[in-house]
Amino acid sequence: MTYATSVWYMAAWSDEITIGTLRHRKLLDQDLVLFRDDQGRAHALHDRCPHRFAPLHLGNCTAAGTLQCKYHGLEFDSQGQCVHNPHGNGSIPRNARVRSYPLVERHGIVWAWFGEPELADPAAIPDYGHADAATAWVARRYLHVKANYVLETDNILDLSHIQYLHPSTLGTAAVSQAQTEVVLEGETVWCRRTIRGETPSPFLARNFGLAPGEPADRWLDVRWDAASSLLLLVSMSAAGAGRDRGRTIAIPHIFTPETRTTTHYWFASAFSRADGDDGQARADAHVEGLLHPFATEDMPMLEAQQSRMGDADFWSLRPVLMATDAAAVRARRLLDTRIQRDNQAVALRA
Ligand code: FES
Ligand SMILES: [Fe+2]
Repeated sequence: MTYATSVWYMAAWSDEITIGTLRHRKLLDQDLVLFRDDQGRAHALHDRCPHRFAPLHLGNCTAAGTLQCKYHGLEFDSQGQCVHNPHGNGSIPRNARVRSYPLVERHGIVWAWFGEPELADPAAIPDYGHADAATAWVARRYLHVKANYVLETDNILDLSHIQYLHPSTLGTAAVSQAQTEVVLEGETVWCRRTIRGETPSPFLARNFGLAPGEPADRWLDVRWDAASSLLLLVSMSAAGAGRDRGRTIAIPHIFTPETRTTTHYWFASAFSRADGDDGQARADAHVEGLLHPFATEDMPMLEAQQSRMGDADFWSLRPVLMATDAAAVRARRLLDTRIQRDNQAVALRA
Protein backbone atom coordinates (compact mmCIF):
# COMPACT_ATOMS: atom_id res chain seq x y z
CA MET A 1 0.00 0.00 0.00
CA THR A 2 1.33 3.36 -0.96
CA TYR A 3 -1.01 5.70 0.86
CA ALA A 4 -2.28 6.10 4.41
CA THR A 5 -5.75 4.58 4.68
CA SER A 6 -6.59 5.59 8.25
CA VAL A 7 -7.29 9.21 7.27
CA TRP A 8 -9.99 11.11 5.40
CA TYR A 9 -9.10 12.63 2.05
CA MET A 10 -10.82 15.58 0.44
CA ALA A 11 -12.71 14.43 -2.68
CA ALA A 12 -14.35 17.69 -3.76
CA TRP A 13 -15.78 21.00 -2.69
CA SER A 14 -19.47 20.36 -1.96
CA ASP A 15 -20.54 22.49 -4.91
CA GLU A 16 -18.47 20.41 -7.33
CA ILE A 17 -21.02 17.59 -6.96
CA THR A 18 -24.52 18.40 -8.21
CA ILE A 19 -27.74 16.41 -8.45
CA GLY A 20 -28.13 14.77 -11.84
CA THR A 21 -24.47 14.81 -12.87
CA LEU A 22 -21.75 12.19 -12.58
CA ARG A 23 -18.23 13.43 -11.89
CA HIS A 24 -15.20 11.26 -12.42
CA ARG A 25 -12.22 11.85 -10.17
CA LYS A 26 -9.14 9.71 -9.65
CA LEU A 27 -8.03 9.70 -6.01
CA LEU A 28 -5.20 7.54 -4.59
CA ASP A 29 -4.87 5.84 -8.00
CA GLN A 30 -8.53 4.77 -7.84
CA ASP A 31 -11.20 5.92 -10.27
CA LEU A 32 -14.29 7.19 -8.48
CA VAL A 33 -17.60 8.46 -9.74
CA LEU A 34 -19.09 11.15 -7.48
CA PHE A 35 -22.78 12.04 -7.56
CA ARG A 36 -25.73 13.15 -5.45
CA ASP A 37 -28.99 11.27 -4.97
CA ASP A 38 -32.30 13.09 -5.25
CA GLN A 39 -32.15 13.85 -1.51
CA GLY A 40 -28.90 15.72 -2.10
CA ARG A 41 -26.69 13.15 -0.37
CA ALA A 42 -23.26 12.74 -1.97
CA HIS A 43 -22.00 9.26 -2.88
CA ALA A 44 -18.82 7.76 -4.34
CA LEU A 45 -18.58 4.49 -6.24
CA HIS A 46 -15.73 2.79 -8.06
CA ASP A 47 -16.00 4.22 -11.57
CA ARG A 48 -15.94 0.85 -13.31
CA CYS A 49 -18.92 -1.27 -14.22
CA PRO A 50 -18.40 -4.89 -13.08
CA HIS A 51 -19.80 -6.19 -16.41
CA ARG A 52 -17.32 -5.05 -19.07
CA PHE A 53 -15.62 -2.33 -17.05
CA ALA A 54 -17.13 0.70 -18.72
CA PRO A 55 -16.59 3.94 -16.74
CA LEU A 56 -19.84 4.48 -14.86
CA HIS A 57 -19.54 8.26 -15.06
CA LEU A 58 -20.34 7.98 -18.79
CA GLY A 59 -23.82 6.76 -17.81
CA ASN A 60 -26.88 8.49 -16.39
CA CYS A 61 -28.64 9.24 -13.14
CA THR A 62 -32.13 7.79 -13.55
CA ALA A 63 -35.42 9.15 -12.26
CA ALA A 64 -35.45 6.17 -9.88
CA GLY A 65 -32.24 7.48 -8.28
CA THR A 66 -30.00 4.76 -9.74
CA LEU A 67 -26.83 5.10 -11.75
CA GLN A 68 -27.27 3.48 -15.18
CA CYS A 69 -24.27 2.14 -17.08
CA LYS A 70 -24.00 3.62 -20.57
CA TYR A 71 -22.88 0.37 -22.19
CA HIS A 72 -25.57 -2.30 -21.50
CA GLY A 73 -27.80 -0.51 -19.04
CA LEU A 74 -27.19 -2.24 -15.70
CA GLU A 75 -28.36 0.03 -12.88
CA PHE A 76 -26.69 0.46 -9.49
CA ASP A 77 -27.98 2.00 -6.30
CA SER A 78 -26.01 4.54 -4.28
CA GLN A 79 -24.35 1.74 -2.31
CA GLY A 80 -23.05 0.13 -5.50
CA GLN A 81 -25.48 -2.79 -5.59
CA CYS A 82 -26.86 -3.69 -9.04
CA VAL A 83 -30.63 -3.31 -8.69
CA HIS A 84 -31.79 -3.56 -12.30
CA ASN A 85 -30.83 -5.71 -15.27
CA PRO A 86 -32.90 -4.76 -18.34
CA HIS A 87 -31.97 -7.94 -20.24
CA GLY A 88 -33.73 -11.35 -20.45
CA ASN A 89 -35.45 -12.35 -17.24
CA GLY A 90 -33.78 -9.50 -15.38
CA SER A 91 -31.94 -11.69 -12.91
CA ILE A 92 -29.11 -9.90 -11.19
CA PRO A 93 -25.74 -11.67 -11.15
CA ARG A 94 -24.48 -12.23 -7.62
CA ASN A 95 -21.24 -10.31 -8.13
CA ALA A 96 -22.87 -7.35 -9.88
CA ARG A 97 -21.84 -4.74 -7.39
CA VAL A 98 -19.25 -2.01 -7.29
CA ARG A 99 -17.25 -0.75 -4.34
CA SER A 100 -18.73 2.22 -2.53
CA TYR A 101 -16.59 4.63 -0.52
CA PRO A 102 -17.82 6.24 2.73
CA LEU A 103 -18.28 9.99 2.27
CA VAL A 104 -18.87 12.73 4.82
CA GLU A 105 -19.72 16.30 3.95
CA ARG A 106 -18.64 18.98 6.40
CA HIS A 107 -17.90 22.72 6.16
CA GLY A 108 -18.51 22.66 2.40
CA ILE A 109 -15.97 19.87 1.87
CA VAL A 110 -16.65 16.28 0.77
CA TRP A 111 -14.33 13.81 2.53
CA ALA A 112 -13.76 10.24 1.30
CA TRP A 113 -12.52 7.17 3.17
CA PHE A 114 -10.37 4.55 1.44
CA GLY A 115 -9.76 2.17 4.36
CA GLU A 116 -12.02 -0.48 5.84
CA PRO A 117 -15.51 1.06 5.88
CA GLU A 118 -16.21 0.07 9.50
CA LEU A 119 -13.17 2.10 10.61
CA ALA A 120 -14.42 5.33 9.02
CA ASP A 121 -14.85 7.71 11.96
CA PRO A 122 -16.06 11.21 11.04
CA ALA A 123 -14.57 12.51 14.31
CA ALA A 124 -11.14 12.16 12.65
CA ILE A 125 -11.92 14.75 9.95
CA PRO A 126 -9.77 17.88 10.47
CA ASP A 127 -11.73 20.96 11.47
CA TYR A 128 -12.27 23.50 8.68
CA GLY A 129 -14.96 25.45 10.52
CA HIS A 130 -12.90 28.61 9.84
CA ALA A 131 -13.78 28.26 6.17
CA ASP A 132 -17.44 27.25 6.38
CA ALA A 133 -19.60 29.49 4.19
CA ALA A 134 -22.32 29.24 6.84
CA THR A 135 -20.21 31.33 9.22
CA ALA A 136 -17.52 33.01 7.09
CA TRP A 137 -17.09 34.76 3.73
CA VAL A 138 -15.47 32.08 1.60
CA ALA A 139 -14.11 31.91 -1.96
CA ARG A 140 -12.79 28.58 -3.25
CA ARG A 141 -10.48 27.42 -6.02
CA TYR A 142 -9.00 24.18 -7.41
CA LEU A 143 -5.73 23.36 -9.19
CA HIS A 144 -4.43 20.14 -10.68
CA VAL A 145 -0.68 19.78 -10.10
CA LYS A 146 1.76 17.34 -11.68
CA ALA A 147 3.72 16.78 -8.48
CA ASN A 148 3.63 14.46 -5.48
CA TYR A 149 1.24 15.48 -2.70
CA VAL A 150 3.94 15.45 0.00
CA LEU A 151 6.00 17.98 -1.94
CA GLU A 152 2.86 20.11 -1.71
CA THR A 153 2.72 19.78 2.07
CA ASP A 154 6.44 20.63 2.27
CA ASN A 155 5.66 23.79 0.32
CA ILE A 156 3.01 25.03 2.75
CA LEU A 157 4.78 23.90 5.93
CA ASP A 158 7.90 25.81 4.85
CA LEU A 159 6.64 29.27 3.97
CA SER A 160 10.18 30.65 4.01
CA HIS A 161 9.91 30.19 0.22
CA ILE A 162 7.54 33.17 -0.14
CA GLN A 163 10.47 35.61 0.03
CA TYR A 164 12.04 34.11 -3.09
CA LEU A 165 9.21 32.53 -5.04
CA HIS A 166 6.59 35.26 -4.46
CA PRO A 167 8.58 38.49 -3.96
CA SER A 168 5.96 40.82 -5.46
CA THR A 169 2.87 39.42 -3.74
CA LEU A 170 3.26 37.27 -0.62
CA GLY A 171 6.90 37.63 0.33
CA THR A 172 9.06 40.42 1.76
CA ALA A 173 12.76 40.75 2.51
CA ALA A 174 12.03 40.11 6.22
CA VAL A 175 10.67 36.57 5.84
CA SER A 176 14.04 34.80 6.17
CA GLN A 177 14.50 36.36 9.62
CA ALA A 178 11.12 35.17 10.90
CA GLN A 179 10.85 33.45 14.28
CA THR A 180 9.44 29.97 13.86
CA GLU A 181 8.26 27.30 16.20
CA VAL A 182 6.97 23.80 15.55
CA VAL A 183 4.39 22.40 17.94
CA LEU A 184 2.98 18.88 17.97
CA GLU A 185 -0.59 18.42 19.24
CA GLY A 186 -1.31 14.70 19.14
CA GLU A 187 -0.59 13.87 15.50
CA THR A 188 -1.28 17.41 14.32
CA VAL A 189 1.73 19.57 13.42
CA TRP A 190 1.64 23.34 13.82
CA CYS A 191 4.30 25.57 12.30
CA ARG A 192 4.06 29.11 13.66
CA ARG A 193 6.03 31.85 11.96
CA THR A 194 6.24 35.48 13.10
CA ILE A 195 7.68 38.22 10.88
CA ARG A 196 8.32 41.61 12.48
CA GLY A 197 8.59 45.01 10.89
CA GLU A 198 8.20 44.07 7.24
CA THR A 199 6.96 46.32 4.46
CA PRO A 200 4.00 44.47 2.95
CA SER A 201 3.34 44.27 -0.78
CA PRO A 202 0.35 46.26 -2.08
CA PHE A 203 -1.59 42.96 -2.23
CA LEU A 204 -0.95 42.22 1.44
CA ALA A 205 -1.54 45.79 2.63
CA ARG A 206 -4.85 45.97 0.77
CA ASN A 207 -6.13 42.66 2.11
CA PHE A 208 -5.15 43.34 5.70
CA GLY A 209 -6.50 46.87 5.69
CA LEU A 210 -3.11 48.61 6.08
CA ALA A 211 -1.93 51.83 4.45
CA PRO A 212 0.51 51.30 1.54
CA GLY A 213 4.10 51.25 2.78
CA GLU A 214 3.09 51.02 6.46
CA PRO A 215 5.44 48.66 8.39
CA ALA A 216 3.66 45.59 9.68
CA ASP A 217 3.99 42.43 11.72
CA ARG A 218 2.70 39.15 10.31
CA TRP A 219 1.83 35.79 11.84
CA LEU A 220 1.62 32.70 9.64
CA ASP A 221 0.27 29.64 11.48
CA VAL A 222 0.09 26.44 9.45
CA ARG A 223 -1.72 23.35 10.72
CA TRP A 224 -1.05 19.95 9.17
CA ASP A 225 -3.07 16.76 9.55
CA ALA A 226 -2.30 13.51 7.78
CA ALA A 227 -2.22 12.82 5.04
CA SER A 228 -2.06 16.28 3.47
CA SER A 229 -4.75 18.58 4.87
CA LEU A 230 -3.46 22.00 5.86
CA LEU A 231 -4.93 25.21 7.19
CA LEU A 232 -3.05 28.51 7.12
CA LEU A 233 -4.15 31.29 9.47
CA VAL A 234 -2.53 34.59 8.49
CA SER A 235 -2.77 37.71 10.60
CA MET A 236 -1.20 41.08 9.91
CA SER A 237 -1.30 44.32 11.85
CA ALA A 238 0.59 47.60 12.00
CA ALA A 239 4.07 47.00 13.41
CA GLY A 240 3.98 46.76 17.19
CA ALA A 241 0.17 46.95 17.44
CA GLY A 242 -0.28 43.29 18.37
CA ARG A 243 -1.91 40.40 16.60
CA ASP A 244 -5.39 40.94 17.97
CA ARG A 245 -5.51 44.40 16.36
CA GLY A 246 -5.18 42.93 12.89
CA ARG A 247 -7.35 40.95 10.52
CA THR A 248 -6.97 37.15 10.24
CA ILE A 249 -7.57 35.33 6.96
CA ALA A 250 -8.06 31.54 6.98
CA ILE A 251 -6.66 29.72 3.97
CA PRO A 252 -7.26 25.96 3.71
CA HIS A 253 -4.72 24.17 1.50
CA ILE A 254 -5.98 20.64 1.03
CA PHE A 255 -4.19 18.08 -1.13
CA THR A 256 -5.27 14.63 -2.21
CA PRO A 257 -3.02 12.40 -4.28
CA GLU A 258 -4.45 11.58 -7.66
CA THR A 259 -1.43 9.38 -8.36
CA ARG A 260 2.09 9.28 -6.89
CA THR A 261 3.07 12.18 -9.12
CA THR A 262 -0.15 14.18 -9.54
CA THR A 263 -2.23 15.99 -6.95
CA HIS A 264 -5.63 17.59 -6.51
CA TYR A 265 -5.19 20.95 -4.79
CA TRP A 266 -8.11 22.80 -3.22
CA PHE A 267 -7.60 26.16 -1.55
CA ALA A 268 -9.83 28.95 -0.31
CA SER A 269 -9.83 32.36 1.31
CA ALA A 270 -12.12 32.86 4.27
CA PHE A 271 -12.83 36.19 5.96
CA SER A 272 -14.62 36.48 9.28
CA ARG A 273 -18.20 37.74 9.08
CA ALA A 274 -17.20 40.11 11.87
CA ASP A 275 -14.95 41.95 9.39
CA GLY A 276 -17.92 43.53 7.65
CA ASP A 277 -20.54 43.03 4.96
CA ASP A 278 -18.17 43.39 2.02
CA GLY A 279 -16.37 40.22 3.11
CA GLN A 280 -17.54 38.14 0.14
CA ALA A 281 -16.11 40.63 -2.34
CA ARG A 282 -12.88 40.72 -0.37
CA ALA A 283 -12.67 36.92 -0.19
CA ASP A 284 -13.28 36.71 -3.96
CA ALA A 285 -10.57 39.28 -4.67
CA HIS A 286 -8.14 37.67 -2.23
CA VAL A 287 -8.48 34.14 -3.60
CA GLU A 288 -8.07 35.50 -7.12
CA GLY A 289 -4.95 37.30 -5.92
CA LEU A 290 -3.62 33.99 -4.51
CA LEU A 291 -4.42 32.07 -7.67
CA HIS A 292 -1.82 34.04 -9.58
CA PRO A 293 1.25 33.13 -7.46
CA PHE A 294 -0.07 29.62 -6.75
CA ALA A 295 -0.67 28.81 -10.42
CA THR A 296 2.22 30.69 -12.00
CA GLU A 297 4.94 30.42 -9.31
CA ASP A 298 4.29 27.49 -6.91
CA MET A 299 2.81 25.09 -9.44
CA PRO A 300 5.62 25.37 -12.02
CA MET A 301 8.19 25.00 -9.23
CA LEU A 302 6.48 21.93 -7.77
CA GLU A 303 6.18 20.35 -11.21
CA ALA A 304 9.82 21.10 -11.98
CA GLN A 305 10.89 19.54 -8.64
CA GLN A 306 8.89 16.43 -9.47
CA SER A 307 10.46 16.29 -12.89
CA ARG A 308 13.96 16.45 -11.41
CA MET A 309 13.10 13.80 -8.79
CA GLY A 310 11.54 11.42 -11.30
CA ASP A 311 10.40 8.22 -9.59
CA ALA A 312 12.99 8.42 -6.82
CA ASP A 313 11.92 8.15 -3.20
CA PHE A 314 12.34 11.51 -1.44
CA TRP A 315 14.67 10.28 1.32
CA SER A 316 16.77 8.20 -1.07
CA LEU A 317 17.91 11.48 -2.66
CA ARG A 318 19.38 12.54 0.71
CA PRO A 319 17.85 16.04 0.77
CA VAL A 320 19.77 18.78 2.57
CA LEU A 321 17.84 19.71 5.71
CA MET A 322 17.67 23.26 7.07
CA ALA A 323 16.08 24.71 10.19
CA THR A 324 13.11 25.86 8.09
CA ASP A 325 12.35 22.23 7.23
CA ALA A 326 11.56 21.21 10.81
CA ALA A 327 7.77 21.15 10.44
CA ALA A 328 7.79 19.49 7.03
CA VAL A 329 10.17 16.78 8.22
CA ARG A 330 8.02 16.19 11.29
CA ALA A 331 4.95 15.81 9.09
CA ARG A 332 6.75 13.48 6.67
CA ARG A 333 7.87 11.26 9.55
CA LEU A 334 4.37 11.13 11.00
CA LEU A 335 2.92 10.28 7.59
CA ASP A 336 5.52 7.56 6.97
CA THR A 337 4.76 6.04 10.38
CA ARG A 338 1.05 6.12 9.69
CA ILE A 339 1.47 4.43 6.30
CA GLN A 340 3.54 1.69 7.94
CA ARG A 341 0.93 1.28 10.68
CA ASP A 342 -1.87 1.06 8.12
CA ASN A 343 0.11 -1.50 6.12
CA GLN A 344 0.62 -3.62 9.23
CA ALA A 345 -3.08 -3.43 10.10
CA VAL A 346 -4.00 -4.59 6.59
CA ALA A 347 -1.48 -7.47 6.82
CA LEU A 348 -2.95 -8.52 10.20
CA ARG A 349 -6.49 -8.55 8.82
CA ALA A 350 -5.47 -10.57 5.75
S1 FES B 1 -20.28 -2.58 -19.14
FE1 FES B 1 -21.78 -1.81 -17.81
S2 FES B 1 -23.57 -2.85 -18.31
FE2 FES B 1 -22.05 -3.69 -19.62
FE1 LIG C 1 4.05 29.46 -2.44
